[in-house]
Formats: sequence, C-alpha cells, structure tokens
Amino acid sequence: MEQITKYLCRYKNYNFAIGDANAEYIDSLQSFEIRDSDIFLVTYPKSGTIWTQQIIISICELDGDLNEYPNNFEQMPWLEYTEGREDYALRPSPRLFTSHLTPALMPPGVKDKKAKIIYVMRNPKDNIVSFYHFSKASSDLETPKNFEHFFEAYLKGNVVGSSWFDHIRVWHSKRDEYNILFLNYEDMVLDLKAAVTKICIFLGKNLSEAAIEQVIEKSTFKNMKKDSKANYEFLPQEKLKGDFMRKGNIGDWKNTFTVAQSERVDQLLQEKLGDLSLKFIWE
Ligand code: A3P
Repeated sequence: MEQITKYLCRYKNYNFAIGDANAEYIDSLQSFEIRDSDIFLVTYPKSGTIWTQQIIISICELDGDLNEYPNNFEQMPWLEYTEGREDYALRPSPRLFTSHLTPALMPPGVKDKKAKIIYVMRNPKDNIVSFYHFSKASSDLETPKNFEHFFEAYLKGNVVGSSWFDHIRVWHSKRDEYNILFLNYEDMVLDLKAAVTKICIFLGKNLSEAAIEQVIEKSTFKNMKKDSKANYEFLPQEKLKGDFMRKGNIGDWKNTFTVAQSERVDQLLQEKLGDLSLKFIWE
C-alpha cells in the first residue's frame, strides 16, 4: 500500500484508512469463494450503510435463517477490514457482508450473478456534510481543518473510499454484470416501507405485512439510535468520539454549503455523471 498522508493509504487506485486493510488481504479477495446465498451491501462511505445493514439483518432475522452475532458490525462485517476478520468460509449461510470497495477489488465470484448486492447511493451534498462530521469524530480519519478544506479533499477524491463520483460511475456502469439492487438514501428516508419491500423482494424473502412493519420499526432513526446492536456505540470511545447516527435527514447540506460550493457540485455532477440520468433528491 502506498501511504499518501498520515491517515490515508492507496492500493489499486482506492483509498483506505491506514490500519483498516492490507494489500495481501485485499488481493486474497480475488480468490474469495462466493456462495449463492451471500448478500453484500455496497456503499460509498456515509451513504446510509449502517441503516441498510439494520434493514437487511432485520429482514433475514425475521425470515428465521440467521445466526446471532453480538452486534451488526459482527453480523455483517466489512469484507475489506482486517479488524475482527475471521475465517468467513466457516460462517453458516446466509453470509452477510458490507463493503465500500469498487468492483475491481471485489471477489470476482460475485459477478456470476448468484450472490446479491444492494448498492445505496446518497446525494453528494449531504454525503459530504455527513463525511465531514464523521471525519471529526473518527480517530481513523484526518480531522479536517474546516469544512472548506474537507470539501476540496472530497472533490479530489483524497478521502477514504476515493472519489464519490468514481464510485457511483463504476458501480452504475457495471450494474449489468451483477445481481444488484440500486437504492437511494433519500427514497429510503421518504418511504421506508417501499424500500424495505423492495429489499425483501430482491432477497426473495416473503415476509408478512406484520414482519415488514417490525423491520420498519427497528430501522427508524429514533429506534436505531437506541439499539445497542445497531447504533455503533459499541465501538471503543477512542475510535469514535461522536455519533454514527447524527441527524439522518435530507438537505442538511443547506446549513453548511455556500452557494458557490453547491454550484460546484452541480457542475461536477453534470460533467462526471451527467450521462447516467441519475435522479437526486436534495431536500
Ligand atoms: P448524517 O451524518 O447525515 O446524520 P453510514 O452508515 O454510511 O456511515 O452513513 C451514516 C449516515 O446515515 C448518517 O447521516 C446517519 O445519521 C445516517 N443514518 C443512520 N441510520 C439512519 C436511519 N435509521 N435513518 C436515517 N438515516 C440514518
């Protein structure tokens, strides 16, 4: 891995937080054996990952086929992290994984369209603000000098996860190669039931109306914040001195962005992703 700052290292064109991953293990994912029943949640950081984890885990739990782990981090581990890693080949099915990786770094076996991938995208303005606050709270990330500084680093892709624009483009353009469900964070905020129903259908889980209501109940911002398995307060305080569950809404960027910053993101969206006809909900 090439160290690029005190906190960031790069491997195969992708930025990791130092200590989160190592090159040998990332390479070993190229021969990671995929099962048909594997479920992957893939996101760019700060796009609603732990929320969607909670939804997927709750659906699988209510479907009755899940081994219990102490918390969502262990139940649905990040494929790429070295911390807490175990021999995943020994895990019972269905195995649930989380990842921020790009397609090139993922196990090639997911391409045969048997394993399922749920990809969640969040509008980049709220994503930047969420990432900025998280960078201040997490000891694994560089504390930004101020918002403007973070904004520039983010637009250059000099953050963990590299460029948001590249992540969206590469996953979107390769979507036909995978068995993938694309979701928007904003649609989830506006209609959680519709999102849960879509995920159930995609995963082939035939939950009753009452079970779907239970999944929704467990996944609301208010209830998740109190749920010690899901709110990530189980992380040691020296790692995270703030909340994973911060505000959980759409449009918080308006409290932070200048008009010029907003226009720059609009322009970049047009330049970099304008051909993909993506829809964004900004408020
Ligand atoms: P904010 O910082 O804007 O509040 P990730 O899990 O990918 O790191 O994303 C974190 C973001 O998802 C945070 O956004 C967090 O508040 C939001 N989030 C977590 N659980 C949520 C929920 N149940 N409903 C809505 N947003 C949620």
